[in-house]
Amino acid sequence: MKKQNKVITITSSKGGVGKTIFLLNLAGIMSKLDKKVLIVDCDFLGGAISLNLNTTCNKTVFNISDDMFGNNYETYKNYVTPYLPSIDIVGSCKDPRDSIKIDVDNVLAFINEAKNDYDVVLIDTTHGLNVNNIKILDKSDIVLYMLTNDLMDIKNSKNYLDIVANTDISNFKIILNNSRDINLNYFSNYEIKKTINKNIDYTLDKTLYIKNITSFLLEGEIFTLNKSLTFKEKRDFYKMQAMALDLLKEE
Ligand SMILES: Nc1ncnc2c1ncn2[C@@H]1O[C@H](COP(=O)(O)OP(=O)(O)OP(=O)(O)O)[C@@H](O)[C@H]1O
Ligand SMILES: [Mg+2]
Repeated sequence: MKKQNKVITITSSKGGVGKTIFLLNLAGIMSKLDKKVLIVDCDFLGGAISLNLNTTCNKTVFNISDDMFGNNYETYKNYVTPYLPSIDIVGSCKDPRDSIKIDVDNVLAFINEAKNDYDVVLIDTTHGLNVNNIKILDKSDIVLYMLTNDLMDIKNSKNYLDIVANTDISNFKIILNNSRDINLNYFSNYEIKKTINKNIDYTLDKTLYIKNITSFLLEGEIFTLNKSLTFKEKRDFYKMQAMALDLLKEE
């Protein structure tokens, strides 16, 4: 069966808004939808995908770049680490000093090869519009831009999105994350929309706040794949599933 080959990247202008946790939850939902998922950690300096999943990646994004550079790269298959039958991962550098040695074009060439064997490639990034991120966004089918209900975040987002509007990068979808910090509720959705001058495509409700998140992280578990998990309301699960299906639909 033909794979859907969607490359979806998550980014933000502020750090700590909940990108990585959400990306992992989305991967869980997509695998429940019988999709084959590859997660690539392109947060080269601070990446925490393998840490969050308690998984050791023998090969990382650094090895991809380094091996391509040294002409030792043969196939993408040598660089993916299985997490579950339906989810493979590529972790970020083990040594943060390697992060500046990565040629992001090499990592993108790897993704371009690997995506043929996956329904979806999910890329995590660091925050901000650095050169690496710009190249990654440019090669993504969908960019999920995450913000929270925080004044500085909303102001930064306006600047960020204004800059992006002047580039060729398109396919931005805005996610307002209300689950990161349930005490942030200063502005209405209408006010946020007016300030950033963009529609909010998806909202993560406060009910998705995971109280015992540390224990999930300690166990290396994806929240949405926990069998005994109780989304506070079934509605949350179906809402996230609808979002995943929307992202995967053919344009
Ligand atoms: N749904 C949630 N429920 C509870 N806490 C959350 C949730 N999402 C995020 N957090 C909290 O916010 C922290 C930051 O989340 P996360 O690492 O996903 O953000 P990030 O945007 O990837 O950060 P960075 O910019 O550092 O990569 C988590 O360690 C966790 O404590
Ligand atoms: Mg992160």
